[in-house]
Amino acid sequence: MKYQHIYHAGNFADVAKHVALLYCLDALKRKDAGFFALDTHAGRGLYRLQAPEAQKSGEAERGVQRLVQSGVEEPALARYLTAIGAAHRTRLAHYPGSPALIGAALRPQDRALFVELLPAEARAAEREAAGVGRVRTEIGDGFAALRAHLPPIEHRGLVLIDPPYENVDEMKTVLREFADAHRRWPSGIFLIWYPILSAVQRRSVHARFDALRIPKILSADLAIHADETTLGLAGSGLMIVNPPYGADEYLLTAYEAIHRCLSPSGAGYVEVARLTPERMAQ
Ligand SMILES: C[S@@+](CC[C@H](N)C(=O)[O-])C[C@H]1O[C@@H](n2cnc3c(N)ncnc32)[C@H](O)[C@@H]1O
Repeated sequence: MKYQHIYHAGNFADVAKHVALLYCLDALKRKDAGFFALDTHAGRGLYRLQAPEAQKSGEAERGVQRLVQSGVEEPALARYLTAIGAAHRTRLAHYPGSPALIGAALRPQDRALFVELLPAEARAAEREAAGVGRVRTEIGDGFAALRAHLPPIEHRGLVLIDPPYENVDEMKTVLREFADAHRRWPSGIFLIWYPILSAVQRRSVHARFDALRIPKILSADLAIHADETTLGLAGSGLMIVNPPYGADEYLLTAYEAIHRCLSPSGAGYVEVARLTPERMAQ
């Protein structure tokens, strides 16, 4: 069966990813000039957390619902909690996917494109984004969209690359397509999500990005289980390329607060660190 994000919506990995996504969107809004946001693997706009799939996995329950109900007071999470509709710390009926978060962040001068392979998911994203401004949804391959739409006419903006990693080496495709996209748009902010399954696999992901010799990459990893866990993902990470000013400190603070809430035993770790320098040596 094809990957379906409804099983995972609102899990710890979504929380970490969306906290970073919102920080980058807000940073782009520090300037008046419009920006472009491309979500290559968009999923839908809203996930119903009472749906049987979400209930069966229990991932939102152990993720966003636990965070919301913990009463966490960390200021670095306030923007995220407001954006997901949890400012009053009440249980969520729905969890917003990346298209909903991006759509809600757009100003009249900004533009977004959501790309999703599954027609039903894409149509849901389109329905849910109706009326939120300059937004378009395409049914298709997100990697092809990178080739077709970059660089954007706005010359500023971000790309979220969030594939399901269903195929054995989808990471190989991600690295190849990201490197190509970065050649065409070196100043864009790229957020690339990856799963963390074990210490060895995490080191390998870092090494493979490092080998691209692309400057200004921040890796932001959050694990809530010990490496080599049998409980699903140990953690998840983002490579943030051209991270906005202040992202390092902000994400470290936010991720440590998430870790305290979602890993009561203290298993796992937070690591936010520069993978590559501001400039690559010749
Ligand atoms: C992890 S989910 C996306 C979650 C979403 N970005 C969010 O943060 O709310 C991955 C999505 O990619 C879709 N997908 C799988 N292969 C794809 C491809 N080649 N191009 C575009 N979308 C794809 C899946 O159907 C799924 O909805």
